[in-house]
Amino acid sequence: MKRNDTPIPFIAAERNREVPAWVAALQRAMPDERIVAFKDLSLDDKENATVAIVANPDPLRLKELPSLRWVHSVWAGVERLVTDLAGSEIGIVRLVDPKLAATMAEAVLAWTLYLHREMPTYLAQQRQGLWRPLAYVAPQSRSVGILGLGELGRASAARLVDAGFKVCGWSRQPKSLAGVGCLSGADGLATMLAQTDILVCLLPLTAATRGLLAAETLGRLPQGASLINFARGAIVDDAALRAALDSGALAHAVLDVFTVEPLPREAWQWQHPRVTLLPHCSAATDIASAAHIVACNVRRYRETGEIPANVELARGY
Ligand SMILES: NC(=O)c1ccc[n+]([C@@H]2O[C@H](COP(=O)([O-])OP(=O)(O)OC[C@H]3O[C@@H](n4cnc5c(N)ncnc54)[C@H](OP(=O)(O)O)[C@@H]3O)[C@@H](O)[C@H]2O)c1
Repeated sequence: MKRNDTPIPFIAAERNREVPAWVAALQRAMPDERIVAFKDLSLDDKENATVAIVANPDPLRLKELPSLRWVHSVWAGVERLVTDLAGSEIGIVRLVDPKLAATMAEAVLAWTLYLHREMPTYLAQQRQGLWRPLAYVAPQSRSVGILGLGELGRASAARLVDAGFKVCGWSRQPKSLAGVGCLSGADGLATMLAQTDILVCLLPLTAATRGLLAAETLGRLPQGASLINFARGAIVDDAALRAALDSGALAHAVLDVFTVEPLPREAWQWQHPRVTLLPHCSAATDIASAAHIVACNVRRYRETGEIPANVELARGY
């Protein structure tokens, strides 16, 4: 097969230790392309590259590629790219991988069951040496509300419906999904929150969703509801969350994402008895699967010249 001589740079954050693994996997998935880690690009390579594959790249590195037409992120969340590339003509393609959606749906089911079966309470009772069974609640009597019905929200909703939960979801555009009560708009959000026992956040971080879960919105949840945030930390107002947990209005929060990551050692979330803390691990990208998807998009671009852009800068996701 004839090799395409225009290189495809792979650009990651400075401290990313997975660069060699990514370059090898992408090269395996695209034997007719030349995948080059950013630090190994020649001046000519930088001059000629029209597409780059990126994992949270330093925007200054992108500025060193004057012919760049689009970037393919190997992450699903692209809020930093959207901000860094605002006002430029560079297209953004984000990772849409059914394997990632299945991993997230598994995490959502696992932590929903953790809350549904009262694990935080039993853990607290164990620590106090208390032998006290709680009344069983069937999943059919438990309402789960999902913020965001995109790739990850839809897969998660389907898993929860299968497990017997009452499931509602909220999105920007109205939707219709089997077994899921679909809502949209401000009224839809208020309706969903008022009837949600376990709230799962799977929204992208945008200007419209930053700080969405604040005192007013959290206050609409029934007393004793719980939150799972697997999206982005900044969607939640930390002070409002802490107040809701302190008062017991919110019974528990499972937090995988934070405004600052890694979460600083002095952050209140580490010690809060009503918080289960995860190190941004609910759905990691599978390198081989992602490389295959990126390869399909690059091949289509080489064949048609069309950029498979699936991120709209104006809406922010
Ligand atoms: N913790 C982790 O390990 C991890 C891993 C991967 C991804 N993530 C996070 O998960 C997020 C979601 O990923 P995805 O692939 O499911 O995204 P997606 O396919 O773009 O779906 C986003 C969903 O959110 C809805 N939405 C966006 N803005 C909204 C608004 N202002 N009001 C109401 N609904 C809104 C969209 O509505 P429409 O359907 O109407 O467009 C859509 O349903 C990513 O952005 C990323 O931050 C986390």
